[in-house]
Amino acid sequence: MRDLPILESHDRPFLRAEDLVITRNGRRLLDVADLALGGTGPTLFLGPNGAGKSLLLRCLHGLIVADRGRVTQDGQPIGAEQRRRQAMVFQTPVLLRRSVAANLDYVLKRRGLARGARRARIAGLLEEGGLSGKDRQAARSLSGGEAQRLAILRALACDPEILFLDEPTSALDPAATQDIETMILRAARRGTRIVMITHDIGQARRLAHDIVLMQGGTVAESGPAHDFFDDPQSQAGRRFLAGGLVL
Ligand SMILES: Nc1ncnc2c1ncn2[C@@H]1O[C@H](COP(=O)(O)OP(=O)(O)O)[C@@H](O)[C@H]1O
Ligand SMILES: [Mg+2]
Repeated sequence: MRDLPILESHDRPFLRAEDLVITRNGRRLLDVADLALGGTGPTLFLGPNGAGKSLLLRCLHGLIVADRGRVTQDGQPIGAEQRRRQAMVFQTPVLLRRSVAANLDYVLKRRGLARGARRARIAGLLEEGGLSGKDRQAARSLSGGEAQRLAILRALACDPEILFLDEPTSALDPAATQDIETMILRAARRGTRIVMITHDIGQARRLAHDIVLMQGGTVAESGPAHDFFDDPQSQAGRRFLAGGLVL
């Protein structure tokens, strides 16, 4: 079955995956015929464990090259230039063994910002992530929620056009999750394209403008979130929302 692009024909996709196939040990792990991401609001990927969500996200970010097919950003293949315009946040934050401020400084320095500009930007970022006053604390001593907020700040410090997040709140409690969701929505409102995986249907309802439901390495259904939640078009979608297993 051909996947349905999620955009209206007059929208231009910012990301497109075509004919994407990954096979390992004779198993087809990913098989995406044509998936186009457009629109300005967050796109949330849903689906059971092992559906291929993380693999697809890694392909879209250029971390993995599929056996077949192509990924394009604004019509261009994903290369160094495209990757510079993207950032990724994982479920478990990967932080440098340095202070909170040094984790942000590292990224800003790499981008060529002068010392004064870096200092001002770090202060702004820490404020945005509710981490003001923790600048000298060792990043590895932060709580799970604080560490994830820092990881998101570090991604945002790159001013990415696209921010990928792979289950960024699955290890966090509801309050910490809410803080992260607030940061993500703020970034989306400022124009950052959010492409995010979650297994939390409530979170998808709160954040998603568009939904991509994956199942067995394929896209079972994709489209506007309100359509999906009101009236899913696929059997996989109906089962998923009913809380049953999608097999
Ligand atoms: N490097 C790999 N080699 C072999 N199999 C892999 C590899 N990476 C992922 N897989 C398999 O691909 C399938 C999809 O994985 P993944 O994308 O992580 O699923 P999801 O994120 O939806 O839970 C799983 O069955 C997983 O075991
Ligand atoms: Mg995953």
